[in-house]
Amino acid sequence: MRVLLTGADGQLGRCFQDRVPKDWIILQTDAKSLDITDRVAVFDVIDSFKPNIIVNAAAYTAVDKAESDSDIATLVNVIGPQNLAEAALISNAKLIHVSTDYVFDGRAVTPYKEEDITNPLGVYGLTKLNGEQSVLEVNHSAIIIRTAWVFSEYGNNFVKTMLRLGADRQSLSIVADQRGCPTYAGDIARTIVQLIEYGDVKGGVYHYCGDKEVSWFEFAKAIFEQARNAGYAGNPEVKEITTDEYPTPAARPTYSVLDCQKIRQYPNISESDWQAALSNICRKLI
Ligand SMILES: NC(=O)c1ccc[n+]([C@@H]2O[C@H](COP(=O)([O-])OP(=O)(O)OC[C@H]3O[C@@H](n4cnc5c(N)ncnc54)[C@H](OP(=O)(O)O)[C@@H]3O)[C@@H](O)[C@H]2O)c1
Repeated sequence: MRVLLTGADGQLGRCFQDRVPKDWIILQTDAKSLDITDRVAVFDVIDSFKPNIIVNAAAYTAVDKAESDSDIATLVNVIGPQNLAEAALISNAKLIHVSTDYVFDGRAVTPYKEEDITNPLGVYGLTKLNGEQSVLEVNHSAIIIRTAWVFSEYGNNFVKTMLRLGADRQSLSIVADQRGCPTYAGDIARTIVQLIEYGDVKGGVYHYCGDKEVSWFEFAKAIFEQARNAGYAGNPEVKEITTDEYPTPAARPTYSVLDCQKIRQYPNISESDWQAALSNICRKLI
């Protein structure tokens, strides 16, 4: 197995490297060594490395910054994936690309299925949706995994932000009227490895997220509970607030729970037990 990994320094990229079977040959590339927006560079790397699989963990993920930086967000989230999809098609490699729950507007009351109508509320979600479409237009065999609320021991994420803020502050006000499913990047990485090992996965969109829905407020409470179990000294009061009380440049869906039945038709794909992962991460970080 020859796997080209893009965005290797991000949360998913790092977790994927940790879980790749030892006998696979992996070319890990980061934003400096392979800018996915550079079409010539993408084609050159794929032509010389000749991967069977391309895992695109590269993305522009700054949800609020994207509102004022839509050109770069579009380049990275639309043009980059399109370059990879075209190069994958020509070189007969399978592309696994990753997208987001923010393609939905959050007006649903039951978990979103893959075919449900999309309607992103912000630039980030729109660029990710356009990226999905540009990939599937040129490469029907590509796999797109939509995931949500990603956290890990690496990079920047809500868990690490909470632990940092909670160490200094007496109280934290956290939004309680947005609900979703936290997802451990290691579980997404493991799932990608399993799909690759299975081999015969139909192209298209698949949902994959953590097994229990919560609000950001409930997620924060869970983080501090697990952190204290691991010896964390911070003990901030966590207060509920509404989205209106915490305005952000990008609007976010109030409900973005994903239905993960479709991906679980494949053997060994298990749910992402985010609470277990959170407990492990707290033990690593504290
Ligand atoms: N994080 C979340 O909460 C979340 C939620 C839902 C879906 N997702 C999706 O899950 C996937 C993985 O997210 P993540 O949290 O692992 O993201 P991440 O930690 O932000 O990592 C993304 C990586 O992509 C790199 N990158 C940016 N522009 C690039 C370019 N032009 N060429 C090559 N690499 C480039 C970044 O490098 P620099 O840091 O040097 O820019 C970074 O290392 C993404 O598709 C994301 O949209 C994430």
